[in-house]
Amino acid sequence: MFDQMTVTKTVAAFCGALLILMLSNWAASALFSVGGGHGEEHAAYVIDTGAEEAGAAAASDEPPFEEVFATADAAAGEKVFAKCRACHKIDGANATGPHLDGVVGRAVGAVEGFGYSDAMKTHGGDWTPEKLSEFLANPKADVPGTKMSFVGLPRIKERVDLIAYLESLPH
Ligand code: HEC
Repeated sequence: MFDQMTVTKTVAAFCGALLILMLSNWAASALFSVGGGHGEEHAAYVIDTGAEEAGAAAASDEPPFEEVFATADAAAGEKVFAKCRACHKIDGANATGPHLDGVVGRAVGAVEGFGYSDAMKTHGGDWTPEKLSEFLANPKADVPGTKMSFVGLPRIKERVDLIAYLESLPH
């Protein structure tokens, strides 16, 4: 059998080993949290929050569409339409683009005899004032694959005025 001394030594050695194991474990995790792992997590978190805040700020900066549309000025919109005239007529005839009489509320891609892109043909839905505003802000982003080569109207005021003008036209 073991004598008392051997048992004590063994227990002490075991405890020592355990202590070293725990210490190195702790040291390792401390190193990790200072270096790579945690640091990156923090960075990613900061970037995430930034993006969320920017998105929220942008959304709250812009008043709701209906509110802006309610103040639209059709007469001012007629001037904005100068940017569309090169391609769009409002007398029922198609040109580079489909005619735009009655476009507000019209089904997307629905003008007889106009050769739409596949993107426009398969888009579906109606051109509500809000949909038109989204499209006109950045046509290629709103309808990827559209063949309407127009950069877009970044200012919402120009868009609502123009939509009010288009809505005021005889259908
Ligand atoms: C360089 C020529 C060009 C200009 C400028 C242009 N468009 Fe277009 N537009 C097109 C073409 C081409 C199409 C057909 C797009 C397709 O089939 O993808 C189109 C499609 C549209 C449609 C969809 C019509 C439908 O029947 O679904 C609307 C709405 C529209 N344009 C509005 C405008 C307005 C408003 C402007 C001025 C701010 C404008 N466009 C400027 C060429 C143009």
